[in-house]
Amino acid sequence: MAEKTKILIIGATGYIGKFIVEASAKSGHPTFALVRESTVSDPAKAKLIDGFKNSGVTVLHGDLYDHESLVKAIKQVDVVISTVSTMQLLDQVKIIAAIKEVGNIKRFFPSEFGGDVDRVNGVEPAKTLFAMKVQIRRAIEAEGIPRTYVCSNDFAGYFLPTLAQEGLSAPPRDKAIILGDGNPKGMNFSLWTNLCLV
Ligand SMILES: NC(=O)c1ccc[n+]([C@@H]2O[C@H](COP(=O)([O-])OP(=O)(O)OC[C@H]3O[C@@H](n4cnc5c(N)ncnc54)[C@H](OP(=O)(O)O)[C@@H]3O)[C@@H](O)[C@H]2O)c1
Repeated sequence: MAEKTKILIIGATGYIGKFIVEASAKSGHPTFALVRESTVSDPAKAKLIDGFKNSGVTVLHGDLYDHESLVKAIKQVDVVISTVSTMQLLDQVKIIAAIKEVGNIKRFFPSEFGGDVDRVNGVEPAKTLFAMKVQIRRAIEAEGIPRTYVCSNDFAGYFLPTLAQEGLSAPPRDKAIILGDGNPKGMNFSLWTNLCLV
């Protein structure tokens, strides 16, 4: 039987990363999670990491900003999935550099998991975020790295509880901010899961 693809998730303890780690391990892929050492001391994350280990996931200590740790982790796998946060989208150039140095990666999935940023027109603050994802797409393509961009549109479970109001953790009681000038007949908050691979 063909050997299962070995998968590394960078951003494994994040909102989306943890689901990808779980799905990868459940599918029988040798699964590696890059986790910062400091994260282990966070009780909630420590529990998550214990869960990873119990599912057979190999937890590697490393950091996006520690090149050697990235190279060491990437050397062990065939596929790299990045689920780093929006704050670190542009710093994925560090993953690209490590992938190039190692030279064995069959496929890279950068941190996307939203709309198809080459085709959507967003308003701020999404516009800036989309532009960063586009920039990373072009950097991957310039290096000739095999890649897949996962476009899943917006997750209802993420945006609906706060009616997409930035910084809130509960539904707004008094007012809600509508992005743009309020006139468009449609908007790009597609509150259903509609997955495409680019
Ligand atoms: N379609 C949608 O509705 C939707 C919703 C949310 C997000 N997204 C997209 O999904 C992607 C991931 O977002 P998210 O919300 O899941 O991110 P997140 O919850 O903020 O998770 C970020 C992950 O990156 C890790 N990390 C932070 N700094 C690091 C470093 N220096 N080295 C290595 N790892 C580091 C964090 O680890 P720690 O645990 O150590 O902090 C965490 O595991 C983004 O591209 C975002 O745009 C889409």
